Amino acid sequence: MCGIVGYVGRQDAYPMLIEGLKKMEYRGYDSSGVALLCQEGLKVVKAKGEIDVLEEKVGQPFPKGNLGIGHIRWATHGAPSDINAHPHCACTEDFAVVHNGIIENYRVLRQWLESEGHSFTSETDTEVLAHLIEHNYNGDLLKTVQESMKKVEGSFAVVVMCQRESHRLVCARKDSPLIIGLGEGENFIVSDVPAILNHTRKVYILEDGEFASVTASSVEVYSANSSVVQKEIQEITWDAASAEKGGFQHFMLKEIADQPWALRETMRGRLLNGGKELNLSELDFTPEEINDISKIYIVACGTAYHAGLVGKYAMEKILRLPVEVDLASEFRYRDPLLDKKTMIIVISQSGETADTLTALRLARSRGNKVLAITNVVGSSVSREADKVFYTWAGPEISVPSTKAYLTQLLSLYMLTLYLARERGLLDRQALEKLGEALFALPAKVEQILDKQEEIKEMAAYLSPWESAFYIGRNLDFAVAMEGALKLKETSYIHAEAYASGELKHGPLALIVEGIPVIALATQNSILDKSVSNFKEIKARNGYVICIVQEGTEGLEKEIDRIFYLPSTEDLLTPVLSAVPLQLLAYYTAVARGCPVDKPRNLAKSVTVE
Ligand code: M6R
Repeated sequence: MCGIVGYVGRQDAYPMLIEGLKKMEYRGYDSSGVALLCQEGLKVVKAKGEIDVLEEKVGQPFPKGNLGIGHIRWATHGAPSDINAHPHCACTEDFAVVHNGIIENYRVLRQWLESEGHSFTSETDTEVLAHLIEHNYNGDLLKTVQESMKKVEGSFAVVVMCQRESHRLVCARKDSPLIIGLGEGENFIVSDVPAILNHTRKVYILEDGEFASVTASSVEVYSANSSVVQKEIQEITWDAASAEKGGFQHFMLKEIADQPWALRETMRGRLLNGGKELNLSELDFTPEEINDISKIYIVACGTAYHAGLVGKYAMEKILRLPVEVDLASEFRYRDPLLDKKTMIIVISQSGETADTLTALRLARSRGNKVLAITNVVGSSVSREADKVFYTWAGPEISVPSTKAYLTQLLSLYMLTLYLARERGLLDRQALEKLGEALFALPAKVEQILDKQEEIKEMAAYLSPWESAFYIGRNLDFAVAMEGALKLKETSYIHAEAYASGELKHGPLALIVEGIPVIALATQNSILDKSVSNFKEIKARNGYVICIVQEGTEGLEKEIDRIFYLPSTEDLLTPVLSAVPLQLLAYYTAVARGCPVDKPRNLAKSVTVE
């Protein structure tokens, strides 16, 4: 998705902008651009493609200037192109603007501005901002931006520079993150923390409706009604290296390898005494609130949605409450049935996914309280939910989500146990047994990570194929869906997940000689049922790669390859079975030469509908 960097200070702005943009490349983008205030005036360079293309276009020596803005764009309005890339200027080229988000009323504004004599060059919604600001300019950029943004409907993080006010940048936010990095004799405005970590860890996080005027030596923040806001400095504790690959070939592999650590972080302070004690007092529910729940609604997108499906199985089994899981993009448009006793859980790694955020707002507007499971502190979801449960997985950079999924699963399991305890549904012994099993999972993930050679061999078989199936029953079906999504987005192989029992109702027609079928059979209680499905595939010469728990016997002869997971409670196997599927997708994608961390057409954080 789009990323913003602004710089004002004593140093050359251009290298600062390029460095910041490169730190945000993981967000996914199709073009980039910079605007610099140089002696000869405002210099704007934009290029479709990677930042290297932009650098080539700028050439050497690079333009000098101490104030500038930069942007990476992921196309929404208008195709990826040099012209549609940001920054955008107005008619006079006095102003340059970078913007994340969507201007919903841009057509109306554009028509009006054109009727006032403005001429547009791009197809973007953002360009209206530049013209609007130019049109309204009254000698004070801050006031002009404040006035102009009142006419704008939609979401925005916007940074504006003006040739006539060469000492400052002005920025504003609504529904799209914007952070001011505080340096010594220099300041930054960015949409993403990693863009400034090499320079400062002190930041102001702008809230919705706030505006700021940023010079090299000062930052003034104002509310929507123009009163001064005294911001608190926040200290970013992330290690810069933790946002980098750390020696792995790709972020995806690093993040898969991070999972034992991430799981331990998620349980830190929550699962105590080897898992025997569970402390989720941070949720601060009253006994009445907990006992009143009559239904649970989980809403999310993509991988987070798949985590929700696992949550449904676990919660229905233990809490004996109906649990509905919905895609946020569906939920928001289907007038969902919600009553006051329905507990809403939204799950989002980034906390910025537009569909999930809108679903959260819809639920709250109906008077429901929302619990968010998210990974990003200060994200929009975390700020708007009534309660937040952080997954603490550290920054996830690869577009294919991995460690976020495992930590979301763990969070849902802990939440289930907590609700079960508070509602008096599990006795102490049962709670301790499951808590201990959860506590043991990170070490078991480590054991799986030690068996990557086996997975590489499976990937070698899979990589020439253009189609694959993932099958499983119950919890295994939920994980099969995530496995298929991982393979699709990383390797571009068409992968379908099916409930094993559904094969004979249609998909069996697609089983041809050698076609890879990844079959999950981790639920020992229904193992026989699963095995009979594998036989159906083998009878048609499909190639079955099976994932089971250790101790499962007698399967080798029935199938082509088998991967043994360390054994655990049937209910918790998704945390383990997902790992070989992540690795299988990763190594298959590498074998096919795919750009694993940045699959085509995808972005890390989908902040548009
Ligand atoms: O940040 P979120 O968890 O809200 O993101 C949801 C999906 O966009 C995300 O999980 C997506 O499906 C990933 N590419 C999956 O790997």
